[in-house]
Amino acid sequence: MHNKIQNSHILITGGAGFIGSYVVEELLKSQPAKIVILDNLIRGSFDNMASFIQNPIVEFVGGDIRDTVLLEKCVTGVDYVFHMAALRINACAANPRDGFEVMLKATFDLAELCAKHRVKKVIYSSSASVYGLAQHFPTPETDNPYDNQTFYGGAKMWGEQLLRSFKFMYNLDYVALRYFNVYGARMDTDGKYTEVMIRWLDCIHEGKAPLIYGDGSTTMDFVYVRDVAKANIVALVSDVTDQAFNVGNCEETSLKQLLQAMLKVNNSALEPEYREENSINPVSRRLADNSKAKELLHFEPTVNIEEGLKELSQWYFKKKKTIALSI
Ligand SMILES: NC(=O)c1ccc[n+]([C@@H]2O[C@H](COP(=O)([O-])OP(=O)(O)OC[C@H]3O[C@@H](n4cnc5c(N)ncnc54)[C@H](O)[C@@H]3O)[C@@H](O)[C@H]2O)c1
Repeated sequence: MHNKIQNSHILITGGAGFIGSYVVEELLKSQPAKIVILDNLIRGSFDNMASFIQNPIVEFVGGDIRDTVLLEKCVTGVDYVFHMAALRINACAANPRDGFEVMLKATFDLAELCAKHRVKKVIYSSSASVYGLAQHFPTPETDNPYDNQTFYGGAKMWGEQLLRSFKFMYNLDYVALRYFNVYGARMDTDGKYTEVMIRWLDCIHEGKAPLIYGDGSTTMDFVYVRDVAKANIVALVSDVTDQAFNVGNCEETSLKQLLQAMLKVNNSALEPEYREENSINPVSRRLADNSKAKELLHFEPTVNIEEGLKELSQWYFKKKKTIALSI
């Protein structure tokens, strides 16, 4: 039980989303007085919230963080804020003005309201995207963000800097968490920006060759969603403030290796087919150095890639079966 959470009032923007819903589940273990979820369900869902939506401690507010009046209502009287509502990297690129309104303007409004209402701490969902293609592997937090080319990465970096300046100006405490590639049960399965893992699981299900675009050498650092939720909890309960932390699994996995692991956990002998790269990916490598989070937050990931892929596969195939039965 974490004493800071017990009896506290907590706001989670984007709490109906993939990671946010796990943060709610983790928080509930420590008996908060109230959790308010503000989410416009552009990507989040009631399915994600199924395990807690009936819990009287949890209040779901269906609304937009761009609605400043509503945002102030949600922030008033709150002890802690997790700011997780955001657009995906591709959505920001497709519509940068929306990206500006959600990632920058609404984040500014939120920080201002948190300072005004004396929120005790903000936990900000940042991203490894701030690094663009990093200079060092494993990548420490001290790598600079000048190589980032994306609106999303720039917006996340700005969010961190905004909170730094609010700490300096208004003494608003915060921690920023730079998640690497988060995966796990409840990840998006049918949105426009569905991840490669889900497409491969579909192939395994249908016995079709999984496709790899490019030569499969691009690497990522896949961190399981429950570990990311735990990082959020320790960031809140620790006395650390005004810091950014990497949250990765500290394992570099190429797309080829990822597919091999996925085929292995599903006992599949399918062979991949390679296709020409159809999008420009400026980031060919990701590998986190988590030592700062280990030292200051005592955070360490616990789920290895095979365990994580097994859990993801079981969840996804069960979900497919349920959908098939309901048709
Ligand atoms: N998933 C990853 O690999 C990853 C990696 C790095 C950082 N992040 C960050 O972590 C956070 C959570 O990501 P996620 O993977 O759970 O994504 P997600 O899309 O599942 O969750 C985001 C939630 O925010 C909500 N939302 C979006 N715009 C909103 C708005 N204007 N008003 C209210 N709600 C809004 C969505 O409906 C969704 O439920 C985000 O800030 C994301 O940028 C995610």
